[in-house]
Amino acid sequence: MSRLSEKKILCIVGARPNFMKIAPVIRALNNARYSFNVRLLHTGQHYDTAMKQSFFDQLHIPEPDVDLGVGSGSHAVQTAEIMKRFEPVMDELKPDTILVVGDVNSTIACALVAVKKGVPVIHVEAGLRSGDRSMPEEINRVLTDQISDLLLTTERSAEENLLREGISTDNVHFVGNVMIDTLRYNLSNAVSAEETISSCQGSVDTSSGYGLLTLHRPANVDDPVVLERLLRTLVKLAEHLPLLFPVHPRTTQCIENAGLNQLVADSQLHLIPPQAYLNMLGLMKDARLVLTDSGGIQEETTALGVPCITLRENTERPITVAEGSNTIVGSSPEKIKSCFDDIMQSGGKSGCTPEYWDGKAAERIAEVIGDWLHKI
Ligand code: UD1
Repeated sequence: MSRLSEKKILCIVGARPNFMKIAPVIRALNNARYSFNVRLLHTGQHYDTAMKQSFFDQLHIPEPDVDLGVGSGSHAVQTAEIMKRFEPVMDELKPDTILVVGDVNSTIACALVAVKKGVPVIHVEAGLRSGDRSMPEEINRVLTDQISDLLLTTERSAEENLLREGISTDNVHFVGNVMIDTLRYNLSNAVSAEETISSCQGSVDTSSGYGLLTLHRPANVDDPVVLERLLRTLVKLAEHLPLLFPVHPRTTQCIENAGLNQLVADSQLHLIPPQAYLNMLGLMKDARLVLTDSGGIQEETTALGVPCITLRENTERPITVAEGSNTIVGSSPEKIKSCFDDIMQSGGKSGCTPEYWDGKAAERIAEVIGDWLHKI
């Protein structure tokens, strides 16, 4: 075993989609042929049991060495608060590098603090671009990549995006998708859809199958007019296939604020609490189709071969459309209905598994990091 134990890697997580990405990375770093000193910091961006602790428990993520406990706030307040609380931790822990994942506010906030202290940043899931700068995540992606020293990508298009933005490809490595590492690692332990459904909504008739829905992007839920139009469309679709809808806390608030609770109350759109990872995996695996505006679910449905209708105008994960089971439809009721009908009639596309979505991305990451840390 090559000893790099003097090299301290501080891994950062903040929000729900980070947790399934960090789990295999920590495992791989701890089992690598290099010996690293791995620490974990949680910013506290997501803090509810349903949004955080259930993921730590089910994915066996070690308790964080540090929890900044920032909680919710506007983008500026949340980002600034993470930066303020993270700086003294950097001074105390003195990591040799920090590792950030994905595109949430915690990702850019910690990367920015580290780079200004001269500490190199590793970005897992670098180079994804939707081309839509009205998305807060797109800003986080572009900025994080510009200040990262080692950029690890999930699909080949990411490297072209980075090149176009003037980033040297010397530090870019195509390693595959750690989200799919987690999916493959846990698939056999997924909680059956039947069990999850009966524990939250005993009365749903799923004998002819069910669809799964998630919705939380500001562009879809923040404007009451847009949200109402979408929900009316989905309520109509649910007349043909019951839709299970694990609701993100921000969406719960938006539905309530817009006075739309009644619209869904007597429909076949079944609102259930946010689901833990193994429950969500079971629900996705057995769904006839999935409707979503999430990034990660586009990838997970591609890995599972389940047809996915993406309720956004674009995607930063184009391989899920080119090779996988994903179709981008936006928010037009006609387009959503037409794609839904097509899947109901033909079964929809199942696609194939993209290159390096093989469950070994984190192992490749540990190798690349070990080689790189030798050089810096
Ligand atoms: C964040 C990410 C988004 C990711 C999503 C997954 C950014 C910019 N966005 O969005 O990319 O897809 O996480 O969930 O970082 N809340 C709770 N409990 C919690 C956390 C949040 O109730 O544990 C509520 C709060 O009312 C909060 C709202 O959800 O204001 C939004 O949370 P926030 O972290 O600001 O952004 P998300 O919409 O979750």
